[in-house]
Amino acid sequence: SANAMWGGRFASGPDAIMEAINASIGFDKRLAPQDIAGSRAHAAMLAAQGIITDSDAEAIREGLLTVLSEIETGQFAFSTALEDIHMNVEARLKEIIGEPAGRLHTARSRNDQVATDFRLWVRDQADAAILGLDALIRALLDQAEAGADWVMPGFTHLQTAQPVTWGHHMMAYVEMFARDLSRFRDARVRMNESPLGAAALAGTGFDIDRQMTAEALGFDRPMANSLDAVSDRDFALEFLSSATISAVHLSRLAEELVIWSSAQFRFVTLSDRFSTGSSIMPQKKNPDAAELIRAKIGRILGATVALFTVMKGLPLAYSKDMQEDKEQVFDAADNYMLALAAMTGMVTDMTGNRDNLEAAAASGFSTATDLADWLVRELGLPFREAHHVTGALVAMAEEQGCDLADLALADMQGVHAGITEGVFSVLTVQASVASRVSYGGTAPAQVRAQIARWRERLG
Ligand code: ARG
Repeated sequence: SANAMWGGRFASGPDAIMEAINASIGFDKRLAPQDIAGSRAHAAMLAAQGIITDSDAEAIREGLLTVLSEIETGQFAFSTALEDIHMNVEARLKEIIGEPAGRLHTARSRNDQVATDFRLWVRDQADAAILGLDALIRALLDQAEAGADWVMPGFTHLQTAQPVTWGHHMMAYVEMFARDLSRFRDARVRMNESPLGAAALAGTGFDIDRQMTAEALGFDRPMANSLDAVSDRDFALEFLSSATISAVHLSRLAEELVIWSSAQFRFVTLSDRFSTGSSIMPQKKNPDAAELIRAKIGRILGATVALFTVMKGLPLAYSKDMQEDKEQVFDAADNYMLALAAMTGMVTDMTGNRDNLEAAAASGFSTATDLADWLVRELGLPFREAHHVTGALVAMAEEQGCDLADLALADMQGVHAGITEGVFSVLTVQASVASRVSYGGTAPAQVRAQIARWRERLG
């Protein structure tokens, strides 16, 4: 039989394989609410412009609401023969309201239709990401506030570097996730223009009002070029890129939680609600959620690479290649949101183990830099010489199997005669962090200032 949608031109229907490769209904049914919102806006505009009658527009409006409720209640029978969500909705509308349904597609193409639907969908996801990041940032702020002055080891190369505060470490992630949030916001501003009315690619001869449909759908304005409107998916690429960068941040925090919750570190205790057990080892409490968050970047970056690769080299305007945009974005968005929610739960529920953090902070000669700085400040040594003297003191402590603070003053003076009792005041981890008062530094006073700044910004 001839094709149900374009039977006029076609003598035979598609091969089963053609139908299988061509159909997108299996995944783009997710766009139903956006598709129906777009169609309602379009029909209202057609009537306002006198292109269709008010009674046709009313029938279309009522019919679309029925279709939507059928879809929402799971009564809708999706058909692969009807290719995609757009044709499925229109065909069902025809069954319900008859002839007026055929007027809905006036001055419209599936090309501007799908671009509109997808923009609306991605815009919702950007909003959800913004909300999700806001929640995560607030959870991190609470953690930072609770332990603004808890001392822990700061690492470089995962080797003890200098003591830092728990609050400082939490606030580092606040900065990262806040940048992620602003990336989604920026992307949302750029994507919020309406492709509807671009029609197939060239615009239309009908006297449409693109401003009206743009406004009805919450867009800031219609897109200025009809070719661009149906051709680009940069809004999806920007969303994916933002999600990818944020997933990197999530992955790094997840990795730290994995390390920190181990028996060897014991920096944090994860809640039972976000941990799993082992079927064989009774003692186990595994950080599976953190591991999965750590892994999600794989598929999110994969989706990003996939869509970049699909889009490169496509001539203007629409090509069917672009149908491959949706599954990638759906999967990346679903998994990004899940990772974000899981991380927020883990951070909210976790307990920083103050005593273990502090004990770890003192190990590994973490105040060696403070000692070198003291030699510079008090004895006027050039930093390079102070570095050398301190290195010798570290070697001595290592040999004696003690910390820097446990060295005898006389032994220290054997390395440099000018060293006095006063040196011991800078060798504690508390003194070390308290001294780091430079803007953005780890001193509790600085951390509290950072927290206050963010609380004010977030409101
Ligand atoms: N299902 C299609 C897509 O996702 C809708 C647009 C079809 N347009 C066309 N000219 N075949 O891209």
